[in-house]
Amino acid sequence: PSSLTDLVLTHIREVPDFPEPCVLFRDITPLLADGKAFRELIKGLADFYRGRIDSVAGLESRGFILAAPLAVELGIGMITIRKAGKLPGAVFGVDYALEYGTARMEVHPEIVKDGDRVLIIDDVLATGGTARAAIDLVEHSGGEATALCMLLELADLNGRKKLEGYTVDSVVVYE
Ligand code: PRP
Ligand code: MG
Repeated sequence: PSSLTDLVLTHIREVPDFPEPCVLFRDITPLLADGKAFRELIKGLADFYRGRIDSVAGLESRGFILAAPLAVELGIGMITIRKAGKLPGAVFGVDYALEYGTARMEVHPEIVKDGDRVLIIDDVLATGGTARAAIDLVEHSGGEATALCMLLELADLNGRKKLEGYTVDSVVVYE
């Protein structure tokens, strides 16, 4: 949603050498702390997706911050995709590669209704491993990964390559 690009861009804080030397961290906390900007972002995303999706899947943890208000604004449900071992009862899980090591995301498959048009939302698209795992979780659960919304895309990490064939809407793309 390009109408929101400037809004987001002007509220991101760049922190050099975090979490390790030579990494430039893009911090979204100033955006969240600005009530007017945060509200404008959620309203803008809601306008963009209204009528096109049946539920919003948020990716723990930072994706939750965006998924919950968007779901409420649209009056639709939120699917919580969580890190390993957090969801009770029967879960479906997907392992994926991180820059160093692996991680696992899980979902309650029955939460996704068959044929549901699901929007997957997260704060950052980096290598794409997290987003790709989310697609697999949604599809395994019988849903359709209709679109992925990423607040920030770090294009040099080529995450989009892992998401080929899917609609990826990034609000800000850092080349
Ligand atoms: C960060 C970010 C994305 C993911 C992107 O989450 O919030 O979810 O990494 O990376 P990828 O595209 O290389 O998979 P992180 O695992 O740091 O945890 P958090 O959301 O709990 O802070
Ligand atoms: Mg995350």
